[in-house]
Amino acid sequence: MCGIFAYAGRQTDAAGMILDGLRRLEYRGYDSWGVAIRNNGGILTEKQVGKIGSAEVSMPESNAGFGHTRWATHGGVTQCNAHPHLDCTGRLAVIHNGIVENHDELRQEVRNAGHRFHSETDTEVVVHLLEDAVAARNGDPGAVEQATREVFARLDGLNAIMVLDSHSDKLVAVKNGSPLVVGYGDGRNYIASDASALLPHTQRVTFLSDGEMVVISPDGIVARDAATGAQLQPEVLELDWNVEQAELGEHAHYLTKEIHEQPAIVRSIALSQGDTAQKLADMVRDSYGTFFIGCGTAANAALTGQYLFSRIARRHVNFAPGSEFNYLEHFLTPQSLVIALSQSGETIDVIEPLVRGKKEKGIQVAALVNVLGSTLYRLADFALLLGAGPEKCVLATKSYTAKLAVLILTAYALDGRLEEGQQLILQAADMIEEQLSDDNKARIADLTERIYEREDMFLIGRGMSYPSSLEAALKIKEVSYIHAEGFAGGELKHGVIALIEPGTPCIVFAPNDETRGGILSNAQELRARGAYVIGVSPQPSDAFDFHIPVGDAGDAGPIVNSIPAQLLAYNLALKRGTDPDKPRNLAKSVTVK
Ligand code: G6P
Repeated sequence: MCGIFAYAGRQTDAAGMILDGLRRLEYRGYDSWGVAIRNNGGILTEKQVGKIGSAEVSMPESNAGFGHTRWATHGGVTQCNAHPHLDCTGRLAVIHNGIVENHDELRQEVRNAGHRFHSETDTEVVVHLLEDAVAARNGDPGAVEQATREVFARLDGLNAIMVLDSHSDKLVAVKNGSPLVVGYGDGRNYIASDASALLPHTQRVTFLSDGEMVVISPDGIVARDAATGAQLQPEVLELDWNVEQAELGEHAHYLTKEIHEQPAIVRSIALSQGDTAQKLADMVRDSYGTFFIGCGTAANAALTGQYLFSRIARRHVNFAPGSEFNYLEHFLTPQSLVIALSQSGETIDVIEPLVRGKKEKGIQVAALVNVLGSTLYRLADFALLLGAGPEKCVLATKSYTAKLAVLILTAYALDGRLEEGQQLILQAADMIEEQLSDDNKARIADLTERIYEREDMFLIGRGMSYPSSLEAALKIKEVSYIHAEGFAGGELKHGVIALIEPGTPCIVFAPNDETRGGILSNAQELRARGAYVIGVSPQPSDAFDFHIPVGDAGDAGPIVNSIPAQLLAYNLALKRGTDPDKPRNLAKSVTVK
């Protein structure tokens, strides 16, 4: 999703620093980018389509400016549509995350006032509105701030706006929905849409709340209420991530780096999250109706949670994808507990129903979230930080297994068996390590050679292995672009088996649990129709053409069983020449509906 990086400071290396900041935001997903700096009372811009790669910007020295990575919504991927956008006079530049929902009506008004448009974006209306609002203030020194508040109040939708004024070294930012983080340096201040971009510069940050505006300059930061203009005292937090964690180190890609971090993360959850899991379990016990929601990979973790809670704690928990939860809200009450799962804590399809649910139904919200200070972290009544460190690959891997580990611990805590749960997670961490051995990786490389040219793949599991099949399919399709579909094992024969052709790869999750008999019958049904059956299982079986041995992790099976598919997805991407970290069309943090 779109990224923002802004700098105002005493040093004059703005352009290079902004480009570096944008590179650190690349993982969010984007299709064009641009930079603007203040120069000699004017504004210089550079905009390009495509990835930043090794691009350099040849811009003069400047002490203030900003940059943007654009993930197109309104208007195609063109240089003109890339941000920043300038007003007609060249005094002001604007970058924007979100969607101005009333842009058509505003565009008409601005056109009628004689402004000329250079892009098809909803963003450009903002800069022309600002131009008029600043002009109406006739040289008032606070004109840009006041104009930003006035114009922002007219925008419908969830937006973050930043304004660069060529007449001053102040940058103005305001938000309502899209994340913005202020970074405090020494004579150097920053704003970014993501804290990880600030790590090389500072760990002291403020996460802006909706309806807040900030002005950053080399001398400091002033925060105000966007509606009233009243000055606010921002809460300053110390980030617990460091810059090395957000870098590749010895690894070729973030995907493989993050896969390999999983044993340590899962182990640390077992050892350090007992109390937080118990607190969450107590909230579940005290609620009247608990719901798990999440999107994408987080939805697959949430669905696994439904099975885990039934199996381990005999507790019914409802699951819904975040984007559907708005349509299932009719029965929510103040006794309802909604547990939201989200790596970024910024996914709008998760945030929106929570905000409504809190406001209109008085629900309790708990969060399993990886990013300190994120929107979800702040709005939850209880936020449990996953502690997985920065996840930069678009594909979620370590945040998924971290969520599963926390859910298992919580279910065990709910059943009064927290310590047993902790032991189980520690064993699972060892089993992940085994999965990452050279032998196992060679086996996955061999499998990759056998199937990488196929365009369709099916995956099945029963019980808690059903969401494992959905998640494994998601990993494979996101990064290799192979059509891979996960199904409940018993469902395949009710329709989709029609698609099986000789040689179609089918991955079958066959753990040593109550699902084994049923899923092996389903595997035989596939084999009888010519499928190439790949079994993920502690034991071999006649039903398998190819066996991937995994440890028998009992209730923690979904953690261990997810590793082979993560490795397979990585290998398929390398073999098929796709980008393992930044798959086409996807964004890491999806902040628009
Ligand atoms: C996007 C990402 C997925 C991720 C989903 C939810 O679609 O591409 O990888 O699973 O958002 O993200 P969250 O940050 O809420 O876990």
